Amino acid sequence: MEFKINKSATEAQIQVVFDEMLKLNKVEFDGANKLKIGLGDQIPNDKTVQKLAITLAKTANQFNLKALFLPMLEVENFVEIVTQAIANNDYQIQKIELETPEENTLQTVVFEQGEQASIDKALAIASGMALTRRLGDLPSNVCTPTYLAETAQNMAQEFNLACQVLEESDMSKLGMGSLLSVSKGSIEPPKLISLSYQGNDSAQPIVLVGKGVTFDSGGISLKSGASMDEMKYDMCGAASVLGTMHAVAEMKLKVNLTIVVPTVENMPAHNASKPGDVVKSMSGQTIEILNTDAEGRLILCDALTYVAKFNPAVVIDVATLTGAVIVALGKHHSGMMVNDQDLADDLIKAGKNSMDTVWQLPLDEEFNELFKSNFADMANSSGCREAGSSVAGSFLAKFTKDYCWAHLDIAGTAWVSGAKKGATGRPVPLLTQYILDSV
Ligand code: BES
Ligand code: MN
Ligand code: ZN
Repeated sequence: MEFKINKSATEAQIQVVFDEMLKLNKVEFDGANKLKIGLGDQIPNDKTVQKLAITLAKTANQFNLKALFLPMLEVENFVEIVTQAIANNDYQIQKIELETPEENTLQTVVFEQGEQASIDKALAIASGMALTRRLGDLPSNVCTPTYLAETAQNMAQEFNLACQVLEESDMSKLGMGSLLSVSKGSIEPPKLISLSYQGNDSAQPIVLVGKGVTFDSGGISLKSGASMDEMKYDMCGAASVLGTMHAVAEMKLKVNLTIVVPTVENMPAHNASKPGDVVKSMSGQTIEILNTDAEGRLILCDALTYVAKFNPAVVIDVATLTGAVIVALGKHHSGMMVNDQDLADDLIKAGKNSMDTVWQLPLDEEFNELFKSNFADMANSSGCREAGSSVAGSFLAKFTKDYCWAHLDIAGTAWVSGAKKGATGRPVPLLTQYILDSV
């Protein structure tokens, strides 16, 4: 697709008219060259502009229209929001060995006013989100840890990034007994992927860590059958840090960014971890595995110990970590926990600006009481339903004491269920905005 800025409507086939008399989001096409879309009686804001843009894209494709000319609305970031929404609408799920879906007809969007830079930024974020969504939507028999490693290696080639993939034996030498306890019941070999982009000679890197469980069956603490297919999305943290890297590399930002992806499959098997097993993490702390379904924290804790070697400015981990965060916050806000309030404030701001919001949840010493163990330094689960997201965050906090850290729980925001089941591409907009703000 092409997006451009041009004061005259000549290039575009169809002129869009924002109509205050029509109900919000209602469209009327005259069959020739005018598409009216309702603004209703509300003052337009970021969210209404995003909705209008999606409706415009869908209507254009429905009527086989190729090019739209859009007048401005008095909303900050109008061009950026519209470009990103329309580009995102172009994402189509690739059906494996089935017919390819029909191409969208809309090819060109012309804005009456605006900056080229807004378009470039929105398109970089949209292509990062498309990668994140594609990886999330792929089934777990295709998107394995090996597939994620190959994806990272291909990105390294494309953008000239430094890439390293650690194998099981490498992780074993590093003492990652916690991470390896999750993968050992699966036939898929685990990987620890690092990808680094250097756009600045001197600065300490921002490090993003993404949970990459390519399928979470629960292991021996097997999940129930309902919606178990959705556990192919348990690598959406990994997919989102890869997508963010894609956006940052495409924009050639003057920052240093490293992403780290611990990736495994969590399966029950004769050689899988069992409740009660005790493992030793890379940090030296021991963990009693009370529930093999609390596997995300087991792989993240070793990755979070590992990333200290990058001398990070900040570390942000992104994970579909707890069902509890969906109960607490639903699907509109990602949960956020931090050990540094300035970082939380920056992320809240970036979330608002990118319409990819986070809501802060607490981390307190008190939560540590809930995952004490008689047999190890800590247990991986509390065994009760209280404050599940904060318990998981507090577990991770025991491995992040040496740097400034935030944890994003995206279990509610990374994909949608039901008839429109699919990955959302979140939190690529949030992370990219945070990195842009740090330049
Ligand atoms: N991947 C799941 C979290 C999840 C569940 C995300 C449902 C989205 C929808 C995670 O590994 C998990 O199973 N968490 C457990 C933790 C519990 C055993 C302490 C949970 O949330 O139930
Ligand atoms: Mn689990
Ligand atoms: Zn999981």
